[in-house]
Amino acid sequence: MKNKITKIKEQAEQEITEIKDAKQVQDLKVKYLGKKSEFNQILKGLKDLSVEDKKVIGPLANQTKNEIKELLEQKEEVLENAVDAEKEWIDVTAPGKRIKPGKLHPLTLVQNQIEDIFTTMGFEIADGPEVETEFYNFDAINMPDDHPGRDMQDTFWISREEGRKKGTGTVLRTQTSSVQVRYMEKHKPPLRIIVPGRVFRNEATDASHEHTFNQFEALVVDKDVNVANFLNIVETFFTQFFGKKMDIRLRPSYFPFVEPGFEFDISCTNCNGKGCSVCSRTGWIELGGAGMVHQNVFEAAGYKKGEYQGFAWGFGVDRLAMMKYKIDDVRLFYNGDVRFVQQF
Ligand code: FA5
Repeated sequence: MKNKITKIKEQAEQEITEIKDAKQVQDLKVKYLGKKSEFNQILKGLKDLSVEDKKVIGPLANQTKNEIKELLEQKEEVLENAVDAEKEWIDVTAPGKRIKPGKLHPLTLVQNQIEDIFTTMGFEIADGPEVETEFYNFDAINMPDDHPGRDMQDTFWISREEGRKKGTGTVLRTQTSSVQVRYMEKHKPPLRIIVPGRVFRNEATDASHEHTFNQFEALVVDKDVNVANFLNIVETFFTQFFGKKMDIRLRPSYFPFVEPGFEFDISCTNCNGKGCSVCSRTGWIELGGAGMVHQNVFEAAGYKKGEYQGFAWGFGVDRLAMMKYKIDDVRLFYNGDVRFVQQF
């Protein structure tokens, strides 16, 4: 019986060294430690042995069974650790995951470029509120309550009580021209500023119109400035902005806060002037309005009528961005699709 136990032990040790996976561990547990194992048969048969043999074989069988149990447990632990190590294995030669860096929105890129060009020409950058009083948005720039010019811009009113005091309503500003008098009240000429900012109009959208868009205003005031100075500055700006000389045209137009007033177009870059949906088949894109500042505006700012001359313009930043990047729908700027922004 002693020999039999030794043989079982040797065989078990041999098989345990050859184990390769967890399943084999379980199989050997059943084989050597289970109910039907040879050890159990031996222990069950102890009752038939002599008292002398019982004293020797019983403890030997138990001890050997425990030794095999311990060997199997050790093997199990080794296999578990190997699996963990496999999970944690890092292939240092594998190519890294591509991280997409954030991008500046095309309108931000364009605004930055506009600011760079004008600051190098000696302009300062001014700012004003988006929620504006009726006074600065309209009255102060020669558009009193009953002025038909107010109809030119469909307005989001925030408050407009009947019988309110003159100019005290509140609007989402319809134009960056609202900053003209705000700024002039606090600064005396000579001055040259640009005012980039968001504006709002209560109007239906299409490929070139949004209800929320960006303008940049420019205001130059001095003793002796004229339309030729204005043209020279905008030509310089466009050449730097587009990196080439652009076809531009001025058309006589009416804005209550300038006299004379112009509308300002550049040749459509989307179709090279041939006509497309962006330029309503005209070959030209209207970028903004411009003109010589009306003396009533200077007066509203506290300047003496006739003492200064100035010119101003308000260009659509979205339209500029559309022309620069050949984008055929202004609404793409605002739909929040990161695939669009990633392209710039
Ligand atoms: C004005 O807003 C005047 N304040 C411009 C001005 C300033 C004239 C100073 C004279 C002196 P207008 O409403 O035309 O003008 O708008 C100017 C430009 O803003 C347009 O030419 C266009 O480029 C852009 N714009 C106007 N409406 C929209 C819109 N709904 N969506 C996108 N861009 C627009």
